Amino acid sequence: MAENQKKILLLPGDGIGPEVVRETKKVIEWFNKKKSLDFKIDQDLIGGAAIDKHGTPITDEVFYKALESDAVIVGACGGPQYDKLEFSKKPERALLKLRKELKLFANLRPAICFKQLVDSSTLKPEIVSGLDILIVRELTGGIYFGEPRGVKPIENGERRGVNTHVYTTKEIKRIAKVAFELAAKRNNKVTSCEKSNVMEAGVLWREEVQSLKDKEYKKIELNHMLADNCAMQLLRNPKQFDVILADNLFGDMLSDEAAMLTGSLGLLPSASLGDKDKNGRTRSLYEPVHGSAPDIAGKNISNPIATILSFSMALKYSLGLLKESAMLDKAVEKTLEEGLRTPDIMSKGKKKVSTSDMGDAIISNLN
Ligand code: IPM
Ligand code: MG
Repeated sequence: MAENQKKILLLPGDGIGPEVVRETKKVIEWFNKKKSLDFKIDQDLIGGAAIDKHGTPITDEVFYKALESDAVIVGACGGPQYDKLEFSKKPERALLKLRKELKLFANLRPAICFKQLVDSSTLKPEIVSGLDILIVRELTGGIYFGEPRGVKPIENGERRGVNTHVYTTKEIKRIAKVAFELAAKRNNKVTSCEKSNVMEAGVLWREEVQSLKDKEYKKIELNHMLADNCAMQLLRNPKQFDVILADNLFGDMLSDEAAMLTGSLGLLPSASLGDKDKNGRTRSLYEPVHGSAPDIAGKNISNPIATILSFSMALKYSLGLLKESAMLDKAVEKTLEEGLRTPDIMSKGKKKVSTSDMGDAIISNLN
């Protein structure tokens, strides 16, 4: 293997995953060809696609490939045909396994409103124009993984469902640190969300975040906000936020909401990062915030931008290629400037294009 060769594993998954990853692959190949970079691209199955072929949402082989890769790019997992499967066999478990076992505790979800798209948001242009928020979501703890969990029969034929929301000091401080460090590179402001009015674990969250700030991040402005209020404030006045710090579940919900401020869920990329391993490498996974969107899958009408921008985050955070990342962001912006729109961001007077047209246009703007 050439010394500079980086391994990228593509896991398109289900629904619109394959088509948005296909466009991203074209972009990666462009960098190989035109910028003489040495990305070794591998592709495999995950989610429902892996269930159909192998009977499991992720095979050991794919899991180990992910462990060995410099960056993993996932399309989407899930679809209605898998709704009836037992919980541990559902397509989404693949994603959760990768997050948990690669220890990708920090999920960064930037919500930026491109000026070309202020009219695509359901909110008034003056509310969203210039919006630039970063959601830092804890990704390996909380109610997604807490024990005990499950559904059990109880007396009189009823059943009882349990999930456990649990966080330790270490987990809270680890993710808060990421939020503070990133805020220091932006506008020095962190809003930490929890429900400390009803949850003890929320009180702990608030106290630990505050204590880390008091000790190590005196210059950062820290506000605590109840998560329901944050959801409301995101619609009322989203530009009050710089970095939003949230646990796994609240971060999941707030990031979908933030995505819509930018015009479409089809625009939001994400990076999931772990600690450095013993070789100094940060494990990482990149995926669009959107899901598999089975209703529009296979029609070549989905928006590939979230996945392409996820690759741009990979260039920045995993591959050390900041210039190339900025270049790709610019090409996306230029394409929007030219008025090209997939149906999810279509507005009057713009040119409606397909998934593959959008990918091609971004590539021609890279040129
Ligand atoms: C996300 C998704 C996932 C999550 C699903 C697909 C498991 O909604 O990445 O936001 O809940 O984390
Ligand atoms: Mg989500």
